[in-house]
Amino acid sequence: MRRKLIAGNWKMNELKSEGLQLAQAVFEKCGNRNLPFDVLICPPMSLLGLVADLPHGACGIGSQDVAETTKASGAFTGDVSAVMVKDLGATHAIVGHSERRTMHGETDAVVRQKAENAIQAGLTAVICIGETEAERESGDALNVVSRQIKGSVPAIATAENCVIAYEPVWAIGTGKTPTTADVAEVHTAVRAELQKLLGAEIADEMRILYGGSVKPGNAKELLAVENVDGALIGGASLKIADFWGIAETQL
Ligand code: 13P
Repeated sequence: MRRKLIAGNWKMNELKSEGLQLAQAVFEKCGNRNLPFDVLICPPMSLLGLVADLPHGACGIGSQDVAETTKASGAFTGDVSAVMVKDLGATHAIVGHSERRTMHGETDAVVRQKAENAIQAGLTAVICIGETEAERESGDALNVVSRQIKGSVPAIATAENCVIAYEPVWAIGTGKTPTTADVAEVHTAVRAELQKLLGAEIADEMRILYGGSVKPGNAKELLAVENVDGALIGGASLKIADFWGIAETQL
C-alpha cells in the first residue's frame, strides 16, 4: 500500500523569518494528527538546519540537492555533502531536478551518483525526471523518461530510500498540466521501467510523484490518477493556504 506524499520544493525562495514562519505553519497543520498521507518540505540549503531544528513531528525535511562527490567532506567549494545534509536533521534529498539538469548540466550519471550518495547517507532520494516540451511534441516523452529512469536510479534504490518525481519540464511554473491520460501513461511506463530495473517487489511499492503546476484546484484530479502517489509542488508550496489546500484534497 503506497501512502501518498505531499512534498513542497521551495526552490531558491524565502529569507529566514518568512521561511521559518512557513515551515512552522506546515508543522502546525501536520500537528500530531494521524494524517493519511506523508508531508515533506524542501527549503533552500540556507534554511535547512534552522527548519530541521524546529519541532516537526512526522513532517519530512529535505534538501534540494547534494554534492556529487562520494566524499563526506573535503575541498569542494560551495558543495554540501549528503552526510552534511543528514547531519542537519534532514530526511530526504531532491536530486536531478530539471532546473539542475538544465542550468547546471547535470547528466543522468551525475544524478545517479547524487541519489546514491543521498541513500548511502541515510536519506531518501527524490529523483526527478521529465521531458521537455520539444520532446513531448515529437512523441518522445516515454523514451526520455525511460532513459532517465535507467540512467538516474541507482541499483541500491528501494521503496523506502527512493521516490521518483515525474515533472514534465514544460509544466513547471507555467500553469500548464498534462491531461490525466498523459499522466497515467507516463506513470505506468515509469513503474514498468522500475520493475525491469529493480524487480516487481520494489517497483510496486516505490512512490511516483507528479510535479508541475499542481494547485489546490487540480490536485484532486491529478492525485487520483493511477500510479500517482503524491505531488512535488513548487510555487504553491510557498503559501500555506495553497500547500495545505493541495494536501487537504487527500483527507
Ligand atoms: P511548480 O509547482 O511551480 O510548477 O514547480 C514544480 C516543481 O518544479 C517542483 O519541483
